[in-house]
Amino acid sequence: MGKKLIIANWKMNLTVNEASLYVHKLDKLAGKLKHTEVVLAPTMLALQPLNMQVQHHHFNLAAQNFYWRDRGAYTGEVSAAQLRGVVQYGLVGHSERRHIFAERSKDIRSKVQAAVRNNIVPVLCIGETAQERADKETSDVIRDQLVGGLANITSVEVGQIVIAYEPVWSIGTGKFASPRDVERAVKYIRRQIEHLFGKVAAENVRVLYGGSVNLDNAMSYLQTAGVNGLLIGESSLDVYAFAGIIKKCEDMSSLPVKRGK
Ligand code: PGA
Repeated sequence: MGKKLIIANWKMNLTVNEASLYVHKLDKLAGKLKHTEVVLAPTMLALQPLNMQVQHHHFNLAAQNFYWRDRGAYTGEVSAAQLRGVVQYGLVGHSERRHIFAERSKDIRSKVQAAVRNNIVPVLCIGETAQERADKETSDVIRDQLVGGLANITSVEVGQIVIAYEPVWSIGTGKFASPRDVERAVKYIRRQIEHLFGKVAAENVRVLYGGSVNLDNAMSYLQTAGVNGLLIGESSLDVYAFAGIIKKCEDMSSLPVKRGK
């Protein structure tokens, strides 16, 4: 199912200069990539300079956040319309946005729609909290977040977007989901997409895993049926670890591909 997609979410880390230095190093360490699409999500400030620096055949860029209106009196906000041409991807519904900044389903679906409208691929992040997991509500949460997040887009548009399954309890905690749980969740996500948008959309949509991915466990997710790539926070801040994960992904492509349903 095409190239694997690996996204580095640097969150509120690295200055513009550090980000530039990182890209310079990563360029050298990663070498020529045949089977992996690498996307970097730096601080908003670094997007424009990195857009000039990165070789787009090598790395793409993602916004960590944006506002859903295209323009207007929204002090402090940056719109998807302003990011058009600067980034290829945009994170939407990350658990830190949902929980720290109180983003609701309504905001998230408007952002997904704004990204699509502006030629930016939305990466819709979904996942259950520890409490929801303990209460056996994982499937319900996944379904609600998919229905809520994708309400404003068409079945053709949904085939182009990316879903990142990121259990909240695994983000930045060092507690990662088992590949079996990830496989089950990813299958469930595709089943819901099929139910909502049809078979073609379910086959085309790319689904990533995120949550405490590191150099040691990355392979197990990359080999999990139905997983098209990774969304990596903490480990992506170390350019050597991140380059190591990319290298593993490239090497793995010589292995037989497991397909998800
Ligand atoms: P983590 O973050 O890899 O540090 O757990 C993942 C994310 O927030 O996307």
